[in-house]
Amino acid sequence: MNALVVVAAGSGRRMGGPVPKQYLDLQGKAVIIHTLEKFYRYDPEIKIVVVLAKDHLKFWKKISSSSEAALGCEVVTGGENRYDSVRKGLQLIPNGCIVGIHDAVRPLVSQETIGRCYRAAHDSGSGIPVLEMEDSVRMITAGGSENLERASLRRVQTPQVFRSDLIRSAYDQDFPSSVTDDASVYESLHGKLTLVAGNPENIKITKASDLDLASLII
Ligand code: C5P
Repeated sequence: MNALVVVAAGSGRRMGGPVPKQYLDLQGKAVIIHTLEKFYRYDPEIKIVVVLAKDHLKFWKKISSSSEAALGCEVVTGGENRYDSVRKGLQLIPNGCIVGIHDAVRPLVSQETIGRCYRAAHDSGSGIPVLEMEDSVRMITAGGSENLERASLRRVQTPQVFRSDLIRSAYDQDFPSSVTDDASVYESLHGKLTLVAGNPENIKITKASDLDLASLII
C-alpha cells in the first residue's frame, strides 16, 4: 500500500499576509489542493495524512470539501518544527507500506518524480528526489569563502519516500530541531540512501514571487 504524509503546519511567515502560503490561490485552487491531487492522480487508493497547524484548521475546512483528493485525508495537528510535524504524521501510518513525506508547498511535483521515488523506496528502502546544481556554489568560511565542486553536489526535493517501518524507527530517535530533511533522519539509522531524479518545476513556494512563478509554470 502507498501512503503519504503532507506537512502543512508551517506558519508561512516569509510570505507575509494573513493567509498561509499553502492555502493561497494558485490558478483557481489552493496550493495544498494542487499538491494532494498530484498524489491522488498517481494512486487514488493512497492513504494520506495531512499535518496542519491548529490555528489553520479554519483554512482547511474552507477548502477540503472542494476536491476528492482532500476528502479522504486524515488530519492531525503539527508540532513546533518540521521534524515534530513529520513524526506526528508518521504515527498514523501503518507498518508495511511505502510512505512519502512531502511539503504541502510543492504543488508542481511531476507524476514521473512521484513514480521514481515510490519505486525506489519499494526496491531499496528509500527514494530521494535530487537535482544537479547549475550554479557554481561557495561555502562561507571563517576567513571568507571557498568554492565547492559543483559536480559532486545535489539539491534535495520532496517527496522523500521510504518503507514505513524503516522511517518510523528512524524518527523514534532524538534529533536537533535544525534537521530539515527526512533523508538525513533515515540515513542516521539505516545508512545508504537511493537518490533519483527530481523535476526542476518542483519548487518550494516560500516567497510571493514563487507563487507567481508557479502560476506561470501551470
Ligand atoms: O519551513 P519550511 O519551508 O522548511 O517548511 C517546509 C514544509 O514543512 C512546509 O510545507 C511547512 O508547512 C511544513 N512545516 C510543518 N510544521 C512546522 C514547520 C514546517 O509541517 N512546524
